[in-house]
Amino acid sequence: MSTEIVNVCEYEEAAKRKLPKMVFDYYASGAEDEWSLKENRHAFERIRFRPRILIDVTSVDLSTTVLGFKISMPIMVAPTAMQRMAHPEGELATARAASAAGTIMTLSSWATSSVEEVASVGPGIRFFQLYVYKDRNVVAQLVRRAERAGFKAIALTVDTPRLGRRESDIKNRFSLPPHLTLKNFEGLDLGHMEKTSDSGLASYVAGQIDRSLSWKDVKWLQTITRLPILVKGVLTAEDTKLALHAGAAGIIVSNHGARQLDYVPATISALEEVVQAASGRVPVFLDGGVRRGTDVLKALALGASGVFIGRPVVFSLACEGEAGVKKVLQMLRDEFELAMALAGCTKIKDINRSHVQTESERLG
Ligand code: FNR
Repeated sequence: MSTEIVNVCEYEEAAKRKLPKMVFDYYASGAEDEWSLKENRHAFERIRFRPRILIDVTSVDLSTTVLGFKISMPIMVAPTAMQRMAHPEGELATARAASAAGTIMTLSSWATSSVEEVASVGPGIRFFQLYVYKDRNVVAQLVRRAERAGFKAIALTVDTPRLGRRESDIKNRFSLPPHLTLKNFEGLDLGHMEKTSDSGLASYVAGQIDRSLSWKDVKWLQTITRLPILVKGVLTAEDTKLALHAGAAGIIVSNHGARQLDYVPATISALEEVVQAASGRVPVFLDGGVRRGTDVLKALALGASGVFIGRPVVFSLACEGEAGVKKVLQMLRDEFELAMALAGCTKIKDINRSHVQTESERLG
């Protein structure tokens, strides 16, 4: 039997064989019982299509626009920390792969490559993910650097006032391998993580992230940057309205890949509530458990303007570097294009609510 990897999920098994256990577990794990981690996938499985037939699908156009930027498909790269643990080229390989695919890469603030290094790989549309630290001066410096390096938006992560409890990281005494650093903090006196008896990452975060972060800080952020701000980590209608009020340019429905609060709903289950509350005023995006082109179609049918992928990037990076990330993006593109054609959609705007049936609609 061929060992060729034919879908995104197979990269996870391959990465497990390849990576040191501590690194694989850090990438793969979710919080506590990992209920939300499994649910992120299961909830996609419960949605059915209502395909339309006898529509000319000779050509299918996947291109779309995000915050005014034209991209080749509504599938983008989510921020995932410390990509050089997966591959020596880390975030640089990811940036090249995203550019080659004509899509957006979001760089984590905990990247093992700096904003300048990532910018140096060449043209590409990139967003910068931000955690807010107690020292606002550090935040301001990070934002300035991202702006100068040509990043086009800030994805402000709002679901991490404290780090979720990931038990394999505790067991493995997770810490960043000593030859790597969090490059964006170099020179800011924050880039060095101490190995402690607990999780090194947890102690680092506990020390630096501002637990008092609130909506007024979203407004403050707009006083120090003109970049649009996407609020990443919204799961309710209430917070969607507050995000709009606070000036968000867009919303990312995310449960942080189920690594924060366990027993939150799957993001695909929370999406529609957020879309309705946003009522078309800002675009709504989704991440969490997207592994198939059909998942992308489901998310768009439920009102998302695009999706982001997290783990598939680090797993494919671990296996095959830049070529792996390119393959994952290509697989999702091909599957999504096929799913659109089979559902009778020839362009992104054709995808609408009537193309899916949720479980409650089936039962009720
Ligand atoms: C993340 N995520 C994340 N989010 C963020 O805002 N800043 C970060 O530094 C990280 N780091 C990170 C590391 C790893 C290993 C994972 C798996 C996730 C969350 C990420 O942006 C995204 O929300 C999820 O990964 C999406 O879910 P999937 O695609 O991994 O299922």
